[in-house]
Amino acid sequence: MTTTENDTDAAEVPAPGTAPRPVIGKLPQYAAGKPPVVVEGLQSYKLSSNENPFPPLPAVLDAINAAATVNRYPDPLSTALRNELSAFLDVPAEDIVTGGGSLGALNQLLATFAGQNPDGTTDEVIYAWRSFEAYPISVGLAGAESVQVPLNADGTHNLDAMAEAITERTKVILLCTPNNPTGPVLTTAQVENFLRRVPSSVIVVIDEAYEDFVRDDDAVNGIDMYRSHPNVVVLRTFSKGAGLAGLRVGYSVSHAPITRHLRVAAVPFAVSTIAEQAAVTSLRHHDEIVERIQRLVAERTRVVEGLEALGWFVPAAQGNFVWLGLGENTPEFAALAEEQALAVRAFGNEGVRVTIGEEEANTRFLALCATYTKAPRVS
Ligand SMILES: Cc1ncc(COP(=O)(O)O)c(C=O)c1O
Repeated sequence: MTTTENDTDAAEVPAPGTAPRPVIGKLPQYAAGKPPVVVEGLQSYKLSSNENPFPPLPAVLDAINAAATVNRYPDPLSTALRNELSAFLDVPAEDIVTGGGSLGALNQLLATFAGQNPDGTTDEVIYAWRSFEAYPISVGLAGAESVQVPLNADGTHNLDAMAEAITERTKVILLCTPNNPTGPVLTTAQVENFLRRVPSSVIVVIDEAYEDFVRDDDAVNGIDMYRSHPNVVVLRTFSKGAGLAGLRVGYSVSHAPITRHLRVAAVPFAVSTIAEQAAVTSLRHHDEIVERIQRLVAERTRVVEGLEALGWFVPAAQGNFVWLGLGENTPEFAALAEEQALAVRAFGNEGVRVTIGEEEANTRFLALCATYTKAPRVS
């Protein structure tokens, strides 16, 4: 069959009845990190998706190879993983709900608690901005309305403004710690104070995707907050510290009055048998994972110290990435990085997020910064 001009036109005009929900036209499309660029004579590096540069642990590869029952559906409750996590975190297995990545777990939560109501009102979900770019998409798809509260100039959450943004329509608040893409954590004291200002009927999600990389002693621990606050939901993932991003496995931790509803919204079989086995094996080899994470944390320190030695402002980096608030110079810097075969993440005219990667990649990134004269300003 040949494609004529008319065929192309026809493809662009939606057939009657195929129009999407109006919200679809309003949502930004998730822009995944760019793949590494090919530059003759240079090894390329992908520093654009906050991935873990280490290959899977040998034991994890063995577990993946051994998970042979792919003709069967996975355990919809991820029982083995939840039991392992229960011992690891010292929380009841019933309080854990797994998902296809922590993004899957977040979508389940939003689908459960925030959306349109029969009386025509729309629920509100408050979160800091800029933060994880999937938030507006997930909130919009759930049918709820995003209330974005600008970050402080140093890349931290403005918790006062977030508390003031609460209305009777607020159903969920998302706290991202460390915040993607800027890097700072929320402290225990800050979150405790904040929670005192939030009605107990509002769910507070503590998204700790980068929790493994946190080395700030004052940083909040979501699990501690969940233990003392019935309205807290913690999100964690095996994508970052454990390096299983390609397998899609994450989870939420919350109390029974919340989890029992989450299980209704949970996508059946979202976590494959392979992903579950790999996650279980990662937990059993936690020491080896921690050793790798520590190497990345040491690299993060080297990168931050290198940037600060150049006089650059870098918000407190507690994830596996650094934020450069380059403003209008953002596209220029990203293009220069590309010339060095480094794929970085540019956000409009706001800034560039650079993942801590292989040692050589980090060294090349620092060398590029040393030649760049327009140092990032605060924010
Ligand atoms: C803050 C934050 N939360 C959640 C996620 C989702 O991670 P995953 O779905 O791979 O667990 C990411 C991924 O980049 C993230 O940055």
